[in-house]
Amino acid sequence: MWEEETNNNTWKEKSYCCNWVEALIDKYYSDNAPLRHILLTHSQSVAAMALDIVHRHPELGADETFVGEAAMLHDIGIFRTDAPGIQCFGTEPYICHGLLGAELLRAEGYPRHARVAERHTGTGLTVETIQRQQLPLPLQDFSPETIEEQIICYADKFFSKSHLERVRTPEQVLHSLQKFGEEGVRRVETWIQRFA
Ligand SMILES: [Fe+2]
Repeated sequence: MWEEETNNNTWKEKSYCCNWVEALIDKYYSDNAPLRHILLTHSQSVAAMALDIVHRHPELGADETFVGEAAMLHDIGIFRTDAPGIQCFGTEPYICHGLLGAELLRAEGYPRHARVAERHTGTGLTVETIQRQQLPLPLQDFSPETIEEQIICYADKFFSKSHLERVRTPEQVLHSLQKFGEEGVRRVETWIQRFA
């Protein structure tokens, strides 16, 4: 059941979350309030943009409930990474956070949500990118495939976790993806046309 709440609690400000998603986040983030705030604020932004795309484009046939849930959970693996600038004090490289989140979500019994987590980095890391950049990831294609996976990956590109108040422009998104190669830039250009 979706709720929109209007009090001033940051997490509750505009909740796209349902009880089981909230409980799952609390299970892993209750001992780190600053990181919980970062995760929730970022994920709410991604969920809001992703659901806006779903509402404006019924022709895409996206599953609205699933998009809201998976957008809230796509970064749940960040606490296992070593990224002190955003309050993550784990041991794993940050680039692995999607895969780590997917492992967690599969272990919790949510394989469909897990796919969204492991396919949202950049525009979806390809074998070629993993090899070329020597990323510490298995040589698999992590491209988003379903429409829900594509929408959440796209929406995520507009929001950083180090500047929670910022929304990137499409031009800034394209620029930020250049490090992942020309293929990623082309993919986002297609999404901009499709989801605008
Ligand atoms: Fe994200």
